[in-house]
Amino acid sequence: MSARLKNIVILISGAGTNMAAIIRAAQTQNWESQLGARVVAVISSHADASGLALAQALGVSSEALDHRGFESRAAFDAALQARIDAHGPALVVLAGFMRILTPGFVAHYAGRMVNIHPSLLPAFTGLNTHRRAIEAGCQVAGATVHQVTAELDHGQILAQAVVPVLPGDSPQALAARVLEQEHLLYPQAVRELLPHLPAL
Ligand code: GAR
Repeated sequence: MSARLKNIVILISGAGTNMAAIIRAAQTQNWESQLGARVVAVISSHADASGLALAQALGVSSEALDHRGFESRAAFDAALQARIDAHGPALVVLAGFMRILTPGFVAHYAGRMVNIHPSLLPAFTGLNTHRRAIEAGCQVAGATVHQVTAELDHGQILAQAVVPVLPGDSPQALAARVLEQEHLLYPQAVRELLPHLPAL
């Protein structure tokens, strides 16, 4: 009847607020009929991630693959890859997925795995981005959606959002300001990428 749908698998480690923003956008904007795409599964690297229940509440099946049960990074990534591929993903979306990925895993999803990072890349790769931006005296901060490549936080930039750094900002205050923009940026960036991806 219809062409194959483009399945989206979202990976999380914690609260999953970006995940929820994407699921809500997919539902309210009817990505299934508009883009032939749907969010089919959420997988968390942490069994206690609150985003797991949030995904279920939004009607998306969620599962945990706790990294602590694996003896090596490669073993975890191999198991994760099997879990993801069981869902036939056209796109893998990292949404607060706090893991360093092995090169083989990244290569397997080349061109079909994206991440959101809470800085204006290429500035401030890695952790503690908001504290570092404040300490550096930056007047603006923000978030970046990018393709995932073997080098951490270095793939092709797909979209960015900019917010001001205000006098007296704490890392927490800046993080909250950036996160609000992430929730607009990430669904929009995924939406724009989907037409360029083949269904699996
Ligand atoms: C977001 O701010 C995201 O940009 C960041 O973690 C937060 C997750 O929040 N990601 C990274 O730092 C990746 N290195 P969420 O779980 O509520 O979406």
